[in-house]
Amino acid sequence: MGVPLVIVAAVARNGVIGGNNRLLWKLRSDMHHFRAITMGKPMIMGRRTWDSIGRPLPGRETIVVTRDASFVAPGAHVVQDPESAIALGQTLAERLKSPEIVVAGGGELYALLLDRCSALHLTQVDLAPDGDAFFPPIDPARWREVGRAAHDPGPGDEAGFSFVDYVRA
Ligand SMILES: NC(=O)c1ccc[n+]([C@@H]2O[C@H](COP(=O)([O-])OP(=O)(O)OC[C@H]3O[C@@H](n4cnc5c(N)ncnc54)[C@H](OP(=O)(O)O)[C@@H]3O)[C@@H](O)[C@H]2O)c1
Repeated sequence: MGVPLVIVAAVARNGVIGGNNRLLWKLRSDMHHFRAITMGKPMIMGRRTWDSIGRPLPGRETIVVTRDASFVAPGAHVVQDPESAIALGQTLAERLKSPEIVVAGGGELYALLLDRCSALHLTQVDLAPDGDAFFPPIDPARWREVGRAAHDPGPGDEAGFSFVDYVRA
């Protein structure tokens, strides 16, 4: 049991989530959405996503997963395997009184932890860019869509998008 894990991800129509270790779109609305969902919570991310952000995000406790035992991430926690990330996430969630632990990417970490998560908060982006990082397939037998809100591009948004929530089927 313990505190549930949830995924937050922005996913293009072709499953792409990034390329060259960067996001491939500018979506200010989604940045706000990500901030609202993650604020005050422990976040687990892969070392490449940590590198791409380049700093700890304020108000959140970041757990970076890497096989490199000498890796240092100032302002974040570093662990060497996904099980240690979940265990530390539980400890931090209890300390922060957080109702959930957020898995914040990237593609490798989503694939590793999808089966351990109880909910998915996806932003479906109305683009299909070339990229090299992907969200894993969502098996409709295992995940049930429970909410969908479509949005036209707002100020600072390059494309339209939908916020889509899934829970375990
Ligand atoms: N659209 C979105 O919502 C979103 C969110 C986050 C990230 N992204 C994008 O996703 C891309 C990065 O994703 P990615 O798949 O390339 O990398 P990633 O999942 O961020 O990180 C991969 C790294 O995690 C570590 N790792 C993976 N499995 C491990 C294991 N079993 N044990 C220990 N460490 C492990 C390794 O680090 P070491 O190599 O150091 O050992 C590996 O190189 C970027 O383009 C980023 O912009 C998009």
